[in-house]
Amino acid sequence: MKNIIAPSILSADFSRLGEEVENVLQSGADWIHFDVMDNHYVPNLTIGPMVCKSLRNYGIKEFIDVHLMVRPVDPLIQMFADAGADLISFHPEASDDVDASIALIKKLGCKVGFAVNPAEDLSYVKKYINDLDLALLMSVNPGFGGQKFIESVLPKITETRSIIDECSNEIRLEVDGGINPQNIKNVCNAGADTFVLGSAIFNTDDYANTITDLRHHIS
Ligand code: DX5
Ligand code: ZN
Repeated sequence: MKNIIAPSILSADFSRLGEEVENVLQSGADWIHFDVMDNHYVPNLTIGPMVCKSLRNYGIKEFIDVHLMVRPVDPLIQMFADAGADLISFHPEASDDVDASIALIKKLGCKVGFAVNPAEDLSYVKKYINDLDLALLMSVNPGFGGQKFIESVLPKITETRSIIDECSNEIRLEVDGGINPQNIKNVCNAGADTFVLGSAIFNTDDYANTITDLRHHIS
């Protein structure tokens, strides 16, 4: 499976978001990672479905990977599907009815992902693996960009890789938080195929150089 680089727009300049997204895609990014925080499930507040819709209206056609860090989950699933999301990941423990949330995402024509916090085990992923298109392992505690990668997540990435490999479906293994050019190779070797990077891309001057360098470490 091709490696995917998914810049998190959390670290982009929101005053010129369309331009930033266009620029990072032209610089070689594959997906746009869209972090949604509600100041309830996580202690920060970011962007909602209207911003996703604005990016579509601006002309962004590429894959939008929505990461919901919210509670409740279902109302925003509906709104993000309407706003043009391609994949919607949620934290299963934040859902009142995990089966219903999965069914809703699928019914609305989006791919479905589960997000797993650093301190959580893989029980939800194991139980629902046949329903998933993506497992998103958090390698920082959700809420803020620019945090340090939590090394103890590496064995969990490898364990998730084995769970996915035992399954016949095509399921992506995404890792999110604290990834940079120095550690992306370790994340890849542990078994990830989809890499979210916020600060390590948007805090650099030349996105194309940065993304080329990142790809070089994982090819
Ligand atoms: C954290 C978010 C991540 C984060 C990634 O709650 O889900 O997507 O913004 O940013 P960096 O790469 O800066 O850790
Ligand atoms: Zn995220």
